[in-house]
Amino acid sequence: MLVTGGLGFIGSNLARRLADAGADVLVLDALQPNGGANRVNLRDFESKLRFREADLRRAEEYEELLPGHEVVFNLAGQVSHIDSMTDPVSDLGANVHAQIVLLEACRRHLAQAKVVFASTRQIYGRPVRFPVDETHPLRPVDVNGINKMAAEEYHSLYHRVYGMRTVSLRLTNTFGPRMRIKDARNTFLGLWIRRAVEDGVFEVWGGRQKRDLTYVEDAVDAFLAAGALEPATGRVFNIGGIPPVTLAELAQQLVEVSGRGRYETKEFPPEFRRIDIGDYFADDRLFRSLTGWAPRFSLREGLKQTVAFYQEYLTDYV
Ligand SMILES: NC(=O)c1ccc[n+]([C@@H]2O[C@H](COP(=O)([O-])OP(=O)(O)OC[C@H]3O[C@@H](n4cnc5c(N)ncnc54)[C@H](O)[C@@H]3O)[C@@H](O)[C@H]2O)c1
Repeated sequence: MLVTGGLGFIGSNLARRLADAGADVLVLDALQPNGGANRVNLRDFESKLRFREADLRRAEEYEELLPGHEVVFNLAGQVSHIDSMTDPVSDLGANVHAQIVLLEACRRHLAQAKVVFASTRQIYGRPVRFPVDETHPLRPVDVNGINKMAAEEYHSLYHRVYGMRTVSLRLTNTFGPRMRIKDARNTFLGLWIRRAVEDGVFEVWGGRQKRDLTYVEDAVDAFLAAGALEPATGRVFNIGGIPPVTLAELAQQLVEVSGRGRYETKEFPPEFRRIDIGDYFADDRLFRSLTGWAPRFSLREGLKQTVAFYQEYLTDYV
């Protein structure tokens, strides 16, 4: 099994789960400084899996390691929406250039493998109807959404043209242990969690926006279910999870669960408002009905596990 982006948040949780289950796991990651890459994410797993520092944009750094893998869990990417606006070319590199080079390398060396791509709800833009199902129009509001949309399309195209067995999961806000919390690059919630654990103050912009969230263990379950899905035919699926809450309710629960921190409600800064999608919650019944996947963690339980993790390991992440 190959996990790209496996030193990052979701990828490392997935790689650990696979290794614990006895799978032969190879992690590829370029340790990009502005993302969630963190060597401690694979602490204690050094002997249970293999790691190669490699940039997906340079096939020569990893292609000889591809043959033999049955599933490629493709989670390498650039996540920050605001960074995609201030540095659109870097976002293009991670979310488009790297993806097409990886797909080409897989086509040459691993044409039979299943490729599960981490796409995003960001590609829908501001939803026009709820809950958002997979037929909803795609109208991204930022560079990141456009680049992720292109990468998802490449995965589907490589199925249609070359018969590669690709599947894309459109993830919503995912949270849990091993996410970047030093700033808001890995979603606003990362920074909120840091502030709560430090008994500080965090800002809620707006507060009435409704969002669904996925606890990372449930996201990992979804990747495993997608990896086992037959036939994998270039399809795309929404992954939601916890029923929608407003951001104010989310902030309140975080403060309650951690027993620390407090929040202030603020107006949206204009540079963020321009790329905000407002409400979002997914209709993920298609994926549930095909795979039997269902989230196991409530919001409260997910927050409890997350806060407990950062109470123990805060210094590794700030
Ligand atoms: N976290 C979320 O809420 C969320 C929501 C929707 C979609 N996603 C998608 O899920 C995937 C994983 O997200 P995450 O939150 O774990 O992010 P993350 O930043 O924690 O991890 C991404 C990893 O990809 C690596 N990477 C980036 N460019 C690379 C390249 N060129 N070559 C090799 N490695 C590279 C980074 O070093 C990092 O370790 C991303 O593709 C993201 O778009 C995440």
